[in-house]
Amino acid sequence: MAKSKMSKAKRRRIAVWSTFLVVALSIAMPLASYSVHWLGMTAVAQDAKAVENPRSGFWKEIRQGTSGYSAVTGAEANVLMQSTANDWRNFKESPLLSKLPWVIVGMAVLLLLYHVLHGKNKLDSGVRSGRVVPRWSYFERLVHWVTAISFIALSITGISMLLGKKLLIPLLGKAGFAGWASVSISVHNVIGPIFTVGIVLMIVMWIWHNFPTMTDLRWFAKGGGLFTKNHPSAGRMNGGEKVWFWLLATLGVAVCISGLVLVAPMYPQIQIPGVELVRSMMQQASMIHVIAGVIWTAIALGHIYIGTAGTEGAFEGMSTGYVSEEWARQHHDLWYEKMARKGKIIDVGEARGPNPGYGHQQPRSSASSTS
Ligand code: HEM
Repeated sequence: MAKSKMSKAKRRRIAVWSTFLVVALSIAMPLASYSVHWLGMTAVAQDAKAVENPRSGFWKEIRQGTSGYSAVTGAEANVLMQSTANDWRNFKESPLLSKLPWVIVGMAVLLLLYHVLHGKNKLDSGVRSGRVVPRWSYFERLVHWVTAISFIALSITGISMLLGKKLLIPLLGKAGFAGWASVSISVHNVIGPIFTVGIVLMIVMWIWHNFPTMTDLRWFAKGGGLFTKNHPSAGRMNGGEKVWFWLLATLGVAVCISGLVLVAPMYPQIQIPGVELVRSMMQQASMIHVIAGVIWTAIALGHIYIGTAGTEGAFEGMSTGYVSEEWARQHHDLWYEKMARKGKIIDVGEARGPNPGYGHQQPRSSASSTS
């Protein structure tokens, strides 16, 4: 047999190249299967683009309100998809809504600034004569305080529900917030209707004092005396109080009606003839309730400030029913003169009666009326 004459160098070259070939093929062959798969997928995607999903038109139609069969009865029977829910969800998630509560913070900062720079509106005469003027009856004060306390409870629970996820979960944890949220919603649902009755009573009792007059325009022209030493003339209610009253009669009524729409499913036994509750109605009510409620809470801070730390002697009126004659002359001069003409300025002892704190008992004869 002839012995191979292949040189050593040639044999080494063949060995190196075959090793290289084996390694290259073992890498390339699995990749080939990927590229085949990729080409196939692209083709499928192109096919999918070319032919529209036959079901997409179906869902589009349903979103636009096409009716079908549903087990729900009433006005919303056979509505397969409630499309305005999208608008409501967009509203709930809008950045504007999450910034709205800053209105309340802004108002609190403004009031604080005013108080720091201007201080309390004190009575001009440091000495009190000891004579008082009847201003609010027992029933008026009862309604005012039930409504005011309800308002505070509703504001706290309402804001907890609005901002709870952002503000309270970091503070209370998820389980703590879940407990607080469930208390909040129950308190809100029960107190809301009581508050509404209070608002209706306030409107009925006080609308007569709050029709605007020329005196109010002059009061506004002088900035309500907020920044000056002089106190502009005012009748029983001044221009600022009348604006607060009409806000209550508009924004307040909007909050109450929208709140009643939202709470209605809890009381199915109460039906208003001709009105059927549908989801879109509740979504609109929810938007009105949140916006009007937050703005009203901010404005109410102003009223609460003026009624307490802002004005010396105002709180006395709503707590005892009587104001000092100095306060009446300074803040409501025209009303004071009217009361004086009617002989209704009385001695504090006469107003106090047998109970401590004047106002617990109506004074005799002349002081029973407050206007
Ligand atoms: C909790 C804090 C509150 C305080 C300290 C407070 C204080 C007062 C005071 C002192 C007055 C009498 C002003 C005067 O004699 O001229 C008054 C009147 C009034 N308050 Fe309040 N109040 C509070 C909350 C509220 C709330 C939450 C509401 C409404 C939801 C409200 C509605 C009214 C109305 C409608 C008047 C009569 C104004 C008018 O007829 O023009 N108050 N308040």
